[in-house]
Amino acid sequence: MATLYCQYKALNAVAWRKCEPVVMEASADTTTITTSPCTLAGRIAFVTGGGSGIGRACCQVLAREGARLVVTDINLQAAKHTLTLLPGGQQHVAVAMDVSDRRSVEDTMKSAQDQCGAPPSLLVNCAGVSTFASILDDDSWQKIIAVNLTGVFLVTQAFARSLLENGRDSKGAVVNIASILGKTGFAEMSGYTASKGGVISLTKTCAAELASKAIRVNCVLPGLIDTPMTAAVGEENIKKVMPLITLGRSGRPEEVAEVVAFLLSERSSYMVGACVEVTGGYGM
Ligand SMILES: NC(=O)c1ccc[n+]([C@@H]2O[C@H](COP(=O)([O-])OP(=O)(O)OC[C@H]3O[C@@H](n4cnc5c(N)ncnc54)[C@H](O)[C@@H]3O)[C@@H](O)[C@H]2O)c1
Repeated sequence: MATLYCQYKALNAVAWRKCEPVVMEASADTTTITTSPCTLAGRIAFVTGGGSGIGRACCQVLAREGARLVVTDINLQAAKHTLTLLPGGQQHVAVAMDVSDRRSVEDTMKSAQDQCGAPPSLLVNCAGVSTFASILDDDSWQKIIAVNLTGVFLVTQAFARSLLENGRDSKGAVVNIASILGKTGFAEMSGYTASKGGVISLTKTCAAELASKAIRVNCVLPGLIDTPMTAAVGEENIKKVMPLITLGRSGRPEEVAEVVAFLLSERSSYMVGACVEVTGGYGM
């Protein structure tokens, strides 16, 4: 893909700057490849948990790719701060939303559509919480499932309804941020790992159901990524995990966000129900 990027850049620097599609002839046969280096120009992207960490990085990368952002977070101040980091400042909006509250989700989706003049056609379900506690005395189960799993369900439902009812061109894409721990499990994280396992299977079910309606759904399984959530895990726990990471380091939020942007773009047009691991080799 890097080679293609360079070719496109060299072939049509003007189109690159304007985010216009570039058409080029493939060398080996007569196939015409049509794509755009700014892959999301003109699209409206709705991001949950956009006020911090991976969600914020997703907003930054999607804005760089030309999307108009609806940055949502339970923490409005944090979402507003994300806005200040985005190119094309005025066109983006920040909204307070609790993913675990159906009313909040439905109202926010409607207000996003009103403010942008069209329904969002891209969605990143990134909001999440985590806790550490033994299954013997953990009482955080309901809260974690409500945010990490029910939240993904509620936002995806509101997004799909809004797009299918009101989208002129209803082609859509969804990326859910699960976790590699949803596949591997992890001691003292019962609610978290179960919620993320649920997100993986929910992704596949939504993918199967929505593909025929031109909405592709995929998910990303990050490993250990440097964010405020990880900082709360504590150095001792991080030290235990580090030797299990093949690359020997934690990831950066933008390393996840680049994969999210790819999955939302037409560059991944044949990917449906995929779970892409972004882990530096942990848990493979
Ligand atoms: N950091 C990691 O190592 C890692 C690894 C795998 C998966 N993830 C997942 O990535 C996602 C982002 O995590 P992060 O590391 O960037 O964490 P983070 O704490 O930096 O960001 C999470 C964001 O979600 C928001 N949020 C929390 N509850 C919410 C709610 N009810 N409604 C709306 N927003 C809410 C928070 O305000 C915060 O801005 C999460 O789903 C997390 O489980 C993170």
